[in-house]
Amino acid sequence: MKLTKTILAIETSCDETGAALVRGRFRPGEGDVPESVCVASQVVHSQIASHQPFGGVVPEVAARDHLAKIAEVAEEALAALAPTEHLDAVAVTMGPGLIGALLVGILYARGFSIGRGIPLLAVNHVDAHLAPALLFENYSVGSQVLVKSLQYPALALTVSGGHCHLSRLEGPHARVLLGRTVDDAAGEAFDKVAKVLGLVYPGGPQVERLAAQVSGARFSFPCTLTDKSNRLGFSFSGLKTAVLFAVKDLLGLKQIPKSLSGASLPEDVKAELAWAFQEAALGQLRDRLVNALADSPIPIRSVAVAGGVAANSRFRAMMAELGLPVRFAPLALCSDNAAMIGLQALLEPREGLRMQPFTRYAMDMR
Ligand code: KG4
Ligand code: ZN
Repeated sequence: MKLTKTILAIETSCDETGAALVRGRFRPGEGDVPESVCVASQVVHSQIASHQPFGGVVPEVAARDHLAKIAEVAEEALAALAPTEHLDAVAVTMGPGLIGALLVGILYARGFSIGRGIPLLAVNHVDAHLAPALLFENYSVGSQVLVKSLQYPALALTVSGGHCHLSRLEGPHARVLLGRTVDDAAGEAFDKVAKVLGLVYPGGPQVERLAAQVSGARFSFPCTLTDKSNRLGFSFSGLKTAVLFAVKDLLGLKQIPKSLSGASLPEDVKAELAWAFQEAALGQLRDRLVNALADSPIPIRSVAVAGGVAANSRFRAMMAELGLPVRFAPLALCSDNAAMIGLQALLEPREGLRMQPFTRYAMDMR
């Protein structure tokens, strides 16, 4: 007999209010990984327009916007529940994230779980980014997808606006954190460089578009971490500063003013700056993976990549040169969404909740 689990998932860690209904089919006695999964609904209310005037996410604005939208978004996702279908649990992002934003989702989910008398499952947002890549190559909303497991041991890279984490996966439940950023996350660097080039938030897609206009540049930016002993860590703040200095020089300024803008620079110069920055930032991600492959005590069979930056097509092309099977999260599940929270909840054999939202990344949040 097959066992089906249906979960309502809620995500409010940053600037997307997300809710999704996911189903997993399990074969009793065959482990904790579902045999097939379905993203029955996936609703995202993006707050980008609210934050754009500020050039980045404003935590207070984010929390208030989540509060205004959460019930509507959750109800829309719940509409996919079949009339006779039983809801088994509600899963929610417990962190890391913005505290005010997290609390809106957590309190909504907690109230929902008490009202329905169903368990509340706490999910780690960074772990969840990888869940789609661990389960399938592609999916469509409403279709049951046969799980195609990643080949383990694997390396996993989560690269987004708030996180840059490299880990080794020895199975879907066994993760070893190998390296993380010592300062900015990769997506954050894209956003900051975009701002200096006069592009709107979120900067990643804009920088990618601008960079695609050229195939080389007169600039070259460093992609190294100064601490050479840190072969698996990341650093992007030096790279961001190098771009700032280049823009300052191009504008003929003696010093970097408080809010530097290269918006007035010629289009081809901005495109070359974007290209050189993107090559350096993505090159660093690739180099860390190459180091991790070389340093691994066990042979690695595949690589999984997820998070907002995984949507970058230049990055996808670079990863194809690694010489190993690379599984990307599907494009629609790269940026923050609740489907990944529900899929992670299906992957995790535990139940229960630590009622303590956390704002920093924690591998031990179980
Ligand atoms: O995963 P995500 O939605 O949020 C976090 O969990 O942080 O990632 C958003 C980040 C932003 O910094 C955005 O600029 C970046 O992902 N991003 C990209 C691209 N699309 C989104 N960065 C580079 N290239 C892209 N195409
Ligand atoms: Zn995220």
